[in-house]
Amino acid sequence: MEQIGNQTGKQTEKEAEKKREKRTGRQKGKKVDGMDREIIQKRLGRYVKNAQMNVQTCSGVLCGGARCYFFLHRIGRGGTAQVWKAAGIPRGGLWALKIRNKTEDGLFCLQTEAELLEELTNTGKAAPGPLCGEFPRFQEYFQTREREVLVMEYLRGMTLGESLRRGKRYSAAEILEIAVSLCGILEKLHGCTPPVLYLDLSPDNIILERGGGLRLTDLGTAAAWRQRDKRDGFVMTGTPGFAAPEQYQGAASPASDIYSLGMLLRVLNAFGDETDERLWGVREKLQEVIRISTQKDPARRYPDIKAMKQVLEKSTCL
Ligand SMILES: Nc1ncnc2c1ncn2[C@@H]1O[C@H](COP(=O)(O)OP(=O)(O)OP(=O)(O)O)[C@@H](O)[C@H]1O
Ligand SMILES: [Mg+2]
Repeated sequence: MEQIGNQTGKQTEKEAEKKREKRTGRQKGKKVDGMDREIIQKRLGRYVKNAQMNVQTCSGVLCGGARCYFFLHRIGRGGTAQVWKAAGIPRGGLWALKIRNKTEDGLFCLQTEAELLEELTNTGKAAPGPLCGEFPRFQEYFQTREREVLVMEYLRGMTLGESLRRGKRYSAAEILEIAVSLCGILEKLHGCTPPVLYLDLSPDNIILERGGGLRLTDLGTAAAWRQRDKRDGFVMTGTPGFAAPEQYQGAASPASDIYSLGMLLRVLNAFGDETDERLWGVREKLQEVIRISTQKDPARRYPDIKAMKQVLEKSTCL
């Protein structure tokens, strides 16, 4: 009887545990990348208190060189990578983790993107990177058995693509403001030695920050272009609809970024808010900028991004 009673008791305990796991999605004591989940939760508890995070939304932990990262939710999924919002343990903070499965051919290597981001945004060295305010700051890069992980500053806000999908319509003045900001970032990239070509300007790679201002993400195509000699002729082509025709022939140049910016302005303009009649003159000028920057022949576009920026700046003053 006693034995049966014990067994029944154990079974009930087990069942209750199973039910609890099912409900919370967590397994008691299960090791995640070498760390006991209960230890992690204890540590996270402190963090949660400070940052008012909801533990229930977390779905896993990954440990890098600097700290462990507790996944909160996925914020992006592109052709080859996923981007997750994560909370740092034990020192907290919010981070964006770009994660890519390792491939045997190494063609979609995240390491080169991480190296470029570090070069452009590092703040740990004597002088900050030349684009540390224009891209999310690099934090660390590490590999697990199957994955590559790039950890960067988490940017609060939403992408331009998301805002368009939510129905936001931009006035000609707002479009010009976005255009001038993007020209400024491209000008800095093209001014690096050697020049960095971005080659992937599209609404989903532009983050409109919550406090105002705009930043770019995704240096994947830029990094691949830099490595083109080592890649046996393999070229990444950016986003269809925005990438310049010459990119498909592996002949990118700074003019390719001018083309993508022109295409982006065309999209913003096509869905534009035309209610303010005072801005019709600005819209006409904008259309001319779009026409010139999206010429098929790169030689017929603006000679450089600085020239395009100057025209846009003049268009803002009627
Ligand atoms: N640092 C960041 N902070 C906040 N959100 C980010 C950050 N980096 C990326 N994101 C979000 O994740 C999405 C995807 O990121 P990203 O463009 O770098 O990767 P991808 O397009 O999936 O990758 P790839 O094109 O290299 O395969 C972005 O559109 C953006 O919504
Ligand atoms: Mg992207």
